Amino acid sequence: MTNKVKTEKTDSAKIGRGLDVGTAFIYGAQKMGSRVNFTTQRNAFFDVERSEFTEDILKGSNVKYVLGEDKIYVVGDDAMKLANVFGRSARRPMRNGVISSEEDEALPLIELIIKSVLGAPFEKNELCYYSVPALPVDADFDITYHQNIVKSILEKCGYRAKPINEGLAVIFSELAEDNFTGMGISFGGGMVNVCLAVMSIPVFSFSIARAGDWIDAQVARATNESLSKVATFKETYFNLKKPESAMTKVEQALLIYYNSLIEYVLAEIKKEVTKNSRIPEFEKPIPIVISGGTAKPTGFLEKFKETLKKNSFPLAIRETRLAPHPLYSVAKGTLIAAIADNKRN
Ligand SMILES: Nc1ncnc2c1ncn2[C@@H]1O[C@H](COP(=O)(O)OP(=O)(O)OP(=O)(O)O)[C@@H](O)[C@H]1O
Ligand SMILES: [Mg+2]
Repeated sequence: MTNKVKTEKTDSAKIGRGLDVGTAFIYGAQKMGSRVNFTTQRNAFFDVERSEFTEDILKGSNVKYVLGEDKIYVVGDDAMKLANVFGRSARRPMRNGVISSEEDEALPLIELIIKSVLGAPFEKNELCYYSVPALPVDADFDITYHQNIVKSILEKCGYRAKPINEGLAVIFSELAEDNFTGMGISFGGGMVNVCLAVMSIPVFSFSIARAGDWIDAQVARATNESLSKVATFKETYFNLKKPESAMTKVEQALLIYYNSLIEYVLAEIKKEVTKNSRIPEFEKPIPIVISGGTAKPTGFLEKFKETLKKNSFPLAIRETRLAPHPLYSVAKGTLIAAIADNKRN
């Protein structure tokens, strides 16, 4: 019995781990036999006044928290639950795909969330690939700081860490049958990440600093609703196929900003393809695969295809499809990268 457990652990260690570090969610992926296991936490925190009484209560619970000087920071899914109880919004350690410069306490909080998602390595220096966004085309910030901080958090947890571009992770996850040739797009919370690859080699990748959070903020402003109400409605009920005449004010605004985001993303892809001198001559039309939480509402894929058809596009596209599990796609891709790396070495 003990032996069996030991063998499983050693096998898993050889296989490696995947980690999707997203603005809204952090996902971990590991192979268990023939299955992939995913773990997740909201990338969020909620602060309460620090008191011995509250500390004692939290100590006796499973809630994950960090002690600040005069505050207690509850992190992950529990932060969302507490925020709902108190009718406030949870805060985020990341913004637009990278660690937020506006939150002083971001680092210990993100460290705790990553630890709770991944757990300890099966053996010291187990390989873990983690997702990083590409450089944004429409915002002035760098990803080097973010990339290095996540790496050092993983190393502190006992992993050997390697970054992989988020769009490329989508390609690793979804385009194996196409020999990893095509375009991967992740419509996330803080960003949209785009990557074009030939046989797993990136031709270009870039990000756009607007996605689900941007839609929520625009809709909340236009309709005078709270951000959390808009986000909850969007995630639970929104359907892009509903006839416009039957839509409420919030639904109409969501439709307007979804349309605007898709048009904006396609225009940026077009710009990149047109100006990039390294675009290869593809032998045949390529697939586009779409993932990420913002692509989840019913009708998103149809809306994307419609917009693509309306505009002339500089690449021949064979098909556009949605990843079967849009929220898990990046994590799965990071795990595949770790497995492939371990097999090579
Ligand atoms: N069922 C759903 N319908 C609509 N939107 C959803 C749904 N589920 C999640 N979302 C939205 O998807 C976004 C989160 O998606 P995802 O987990 O792919 O992003 P992320 O990886 O955390 O962020 P990023 O990649 O931008 O750093 C949020 O804006 C969330 O509101
Ligand atoms: Mg993401």
